[in-house]
Amino acid sequence: MAKTKTTFECQHCGWTTSKWVGKCPNCGAWDSLVELNKEQVEFLKKQKNSSTLEAKAKSIKDIKEEEIKRFSSYDSELDNVLGGGIVPGSLTLIGGSPGVGKSTLLLKIASNLSKNGKNVLYVSGEESASQIKLRANRLDANEDTLYLLSEIRLEQILAELEFREYDFLIIDSIQTIYSENISSAPGSVTQVRQITFELMRVAKEKELATFIIGHITKDGSIAGPRILEHMVDTVLYFEGDSSKELRILRGFKNRFGATSEIGVFEMRSDGLFSAGDISSRFFNRNSNQPGSALTVVMEGSRPIILEVQALVSESHLPNAKRQATGFDNNRLNMLLALLERKLDIPLSSFDVFVNITGGIKITEPSADLAVLAAIISSFRNRAVSKETVFIGEVSLVGDIREVFGLDARLKEAKLQNITKAITAKKPVEKTGIKVYEVNEVTKLIDWF
Ligand code: TYD
Ligand code: MG
Repeated sequence: MAKTKTTFECQHCGWTTSKWVGKCPNCGAWDSLVELNKEQVEFLKKQKNSSTLEAKAKSIKDIKEEEIKRFSSYDSELDNVLGGGIVPGSLTLIGGSPGVGKSTLLLKIASNLSKNGKNVLYVSGEESASQIKLRANRLDANEDTLYLLSEIRLEQILAELEFREYDFLIIDSIQTIYSENISSAPGSVTQVRQITFELMRVAKEKELATFIIGHITKDGSIAGPRILEHMVDTVLYFEGDSSKELRILRGFKNRFGATSEIGVFEMRSDGLFSAGDISSRFFNRNSNQPGSALTVVMEGSRPIILEVQALVSESHLPNAKRQATGFDNNRLNMLLALLERKLDIPLSSFDVFVNITGGIKITEPSADLAVLAAIISSFRNRAVSKETVFIGEVSLVGDIREVFGLDARLKEAKLQNITKAITAKKPVEKTGIKVYEVNEVTKLIDWF
């Protein structure tokens, strides 16, 4: 009798091998390999061999582009992030920390769509139908063509999709759904991959726009296999501080558009709303404490004024603590090293904490200057005026670089009654703001 071959699969990346190893050579995860049983191996083989269809390659010149059809979600912020609306047959993954409002956002979109005559199926593996009903009451989302299904078995969900014709499907959340044909636990690589694959097949076949909610891990990426992000058409992240009102929806990948625009929502006790004008909402003009500086960042085409806060305090630890919230930790370390070196500030014996208020994450380098200003302000215990914004990227050698869209940023600052700006260069247009040119970090201290 032939010996049966064993197969092990990495639960992080899906890499397979016939011999167990402690560390996955593909993704580097430790102790992530589990042995697959017979059915799972059969299933893997089937998936690998399924590409026997005859397909001939065509010259790119002979291919006609199809116009992407879209329908509106009746929410301008979401449409904006998606690049103009929802694409039929597309799969969108939306991640975010617990309580940020993923279920709320999608229930609201579901109700918008059913108000406009679309059939919507909301599948929840996390909450009972009556719990969702409670939320729907708050959101005023009780519509005839919004159907709820509290279910975790994939086969039942697929059966429901056969039973009625839907235009929009929501899966809340992918980690709770499981397929009876696969014996691994819900949320495991095999399950998540197979379920997403099935959902994708149905979505394309029925031109059904599908939104999948995914949990995120501690470090902020979507839990489970990375392949999930590769498989879907669009990946969105919903972020924000769940104790505050404002939420930001950010595109991370989009096969049908750009990922530069963000959507901003406001979570109120009576529902979730598009936030509209947000520029003045992320900073507090009245506080006059040391350790705070303002900057203007661009989120897509929108300038937003943000407040950077820093706390520098004497350290009692052998290694001083450096911690950033909403700002890149490595970048903070770089800026601190630069301050020590260029300005002779002995920061190595101080703990440094940096925070961007409002739960927003800064993704572009123009806030470097404001971070430096907030740190110096906290270290010297001298407040920086809230009439001033700091805009500039700081390089490793200590000079301050220009940033894109300076005119737009300064115009927005002017609208918010800011009078002064510290930047690398003067703007091209007249903005009505007094600009101080600072092209080197050492000059920043002189300005102080
Ligand atoms: P939820 O959508 O359940 O978060 P997620 O699915 O991302 O885990 O919503 C979380 C919070 O939103 C919850 O703590 C209550 C709050 N909330 C409001 O403030 N207003 C509302 O109208 C609703 C429905 C929820
Ligand atoms: Mg939820």
